[in-house]
Amino acid sequence: MSQCQFDYRDKVVFVAGGTSGINLGIAQGFAKAGATLAVMSRSQDKVDAAIEALKQQGGQVMGFAADVRDVDRLKVVFEQAHRELGPIDVLVSGAAGNFPAAANEMSANAFKAVVDIDLLGTFNVLRYCYDYLRKPGASIINISAPQAFIPMEMQAHVCAAKAGVDMLTRTTAMEWGPEGIRVNSLVPGPIEGTEGMKRLAPAGSLGAQRVIDSVPLKRQGTVEDMANAALFIASDIASYINGAVLPVDGGWGLGGAGQLGQSLAEMAKLAQQPGT
Ligand code: HXC
Ligand code: NAP
Repeated sequence: MSQCQFDYRDKVVFVAGGTSGINLGIAQGFAKAGATLAVMSRSQDKVDAAIEALKQQGGQVMGFAADVRDVDRLKVVFEQAHRELGPIDVLVSGAAGNFPAAANEMSANAFKAVVDIDLLGTFNVLRYCYDYLRKPGASIINISAPQAFIPMEMQAHVCAAKAGVDMLTRTTAMEWGPEGIRVNSLVPGPIEGTEGMKRLAPAGSLGAQRVIDSVPLKRQGTVEDMANAALFIASDIASYINGAVLPVDGGWGLGGAGQLGQSLAEMAKLAQQPGT
């Protein structure tokens, strides 16, 4: 697959949750296009590893260990990133948590954990980075999921949180558009080799067998597919796209994605049967 050619030299890109999987792939795409990068996640080890990987592209890279639920820490992180790198041109908000659990079996705290990371965490990132965004000109990308518009069994927490993320995208696009800030969501489909797919469709599971069949393009996506979409939507070429929720999913969200929830529910029933 060909790599898109975009020029992000002299641009500062901050990726919240950018130390593994899709978000690290997006950070890599911007780094290859010449951007200065800042990545942030909870684990200092993951932050250090991501810095090393991103530095291979030759540009400046900063990393921060921080939890998107910790507002006081976020204030310090964004102030420091701005002081050292200047105004932030592209903000990617992609920190998330997921596990399969039935609504009648998960605790209130389990539901809250996912809402706090995915939805409140996205608000926190946007809210406390806002002062440090380039105005006009900044582009914000929230990372959503098909669960935002396709109800999925065993995913009530994620469906609720990601639907909220997309409404946050639309609302901030309205409020901040007049200042020259664009806000959009990217909706990954099933992206191969990621933590999300390991948790929801582990190798050999019912879900894993069904995923590719249920994608109209008959393949899983790659982190490079996600990076290409991010490079496009943050670029001047997309300068009139604001408040969009863009699937990057091979058409999975047209209907097939719902089968993943059915598979999760079937697997949970099988696991409860004696002898399994
Ligand atoms: C039921 C669970 C659970 C599980 C945790 N909990 N795992 N409940 N089933 N499998 C409950 C705990 O018992 C606890 O409730 C509450 O959730 C909080 O758990 P903690 O471990 O204290 O939370 P925390 O340390 O904050 O960790 C958050 C996490 C964790 C979401 C639980 O898994 C995490 O850090 N995930 C980050 C990585 C990740 O998930 N990546 C995938 C993203 S993919 P109690 O009541 O006991 O206190 C994605 C979309 C994929 O988002 C879409 C694919 C199509
Ligand atoms: P991943 O590798 O687990 O990525 C999640 C990232 O967020 C990690 O860098 C993680 O690092 C960080 N993070 C988690 N909780 C955090 C917190 N509380 N504060 C700060 N950082 C936190 O998962 P992924 O599968 O690539 O998913 C990435 C994004 O794509 C998520 O938004 C997910 O919902 C979305 N998505 C994924 C798929 C898929 O196929 N995988 C499909 C649709 C949507 P730490 O552990 O160090 O904090």
